[in-house]
Amino acid sequence: MNRPIEKLNYNFELPLIQKEVEEILNQVPLDSDQQVMLSCRPNSSAPNTEGKGSIYDKQNKKYIFQQSEFTEFNPNFRGGYLEKLWKEFPFSIGRFRIAVLPRHRCYSLHMDREPRFHIAVFTHERSFILFEKDPQWYHIPADGFLYKMETCYFHTAMNAGFDKRVHLLFDSLESYPESLLGQKGRFD
Ligand SMILES: [Fe+2]
Repeated sequence: MNRPIEKLNYNFELPLIQKEVEEILNQVPLDSDQQVMLSCRPNSSAPNTEGKGSIYDKQNKKYIFQQSEFTEFNPNFRGGYLEKLWKEFPFSIGRFRIAVLPRHRCYSLHMDREPRFHIAVFTHERSFILFEKDPQWYHIPADGFLYKMETCYFHTAMNAGFDKRVHLLFDSLESYPESLLGQKGRFD
C-alpha cells in the first residue's frame, strides 16, 4: 500500500490563513464537533454549521447531505484569503471546513467515504494522525502545503499536546469505491 498521507506540490499563504482562521474562531462559538463550515449549500440558513461533523448516516447507509451540494463559500466569511483559496483550489471539493482538535483529545476511530485534503493552520509536534494497525505516527506540519490523506482506512487524529490543533479540511468530490472502505493498513 502507498503511504496514506502525501505532501502535494501546492503551497498557500499560511500567515493569511492563520490570521483569518483566528478571527473566525474568535467570533464563532464552537459546539462539540469543534468545526466551522466554510462552504455551504445555496441559501443555507445555517452556513456555519450545516454539514459539519459526519454527513453520512451509517444506520440507513445514506448521505444526509451530498458533498456536491456544498457549492457556495460561506457568506459570513466572504472577501478574504480563504475565499480566494477555495476558488482557486486545485481539486474538485465538496465540504470545506475549519476543524479544531482541542488539547488532550482524539477522534473516534473511523473511516471517511472520500479522500480529505488538509492544510495545517496551527499545530505542534505532539499532534498525530494514526491508522489502525499501522505502527507509524504521522504529523502534518503547518508549512502552507496541501496534504492528501487516504481516509478509507480506519484512522484517528490525536492531540497529545497542550495547545489546540487547527486544520483546514477539504472533502474530495470523488468518493472511494466500496471495496476500498474500511481496510486496516500497514503502509510499509
Ligand atoms: Fe477522518
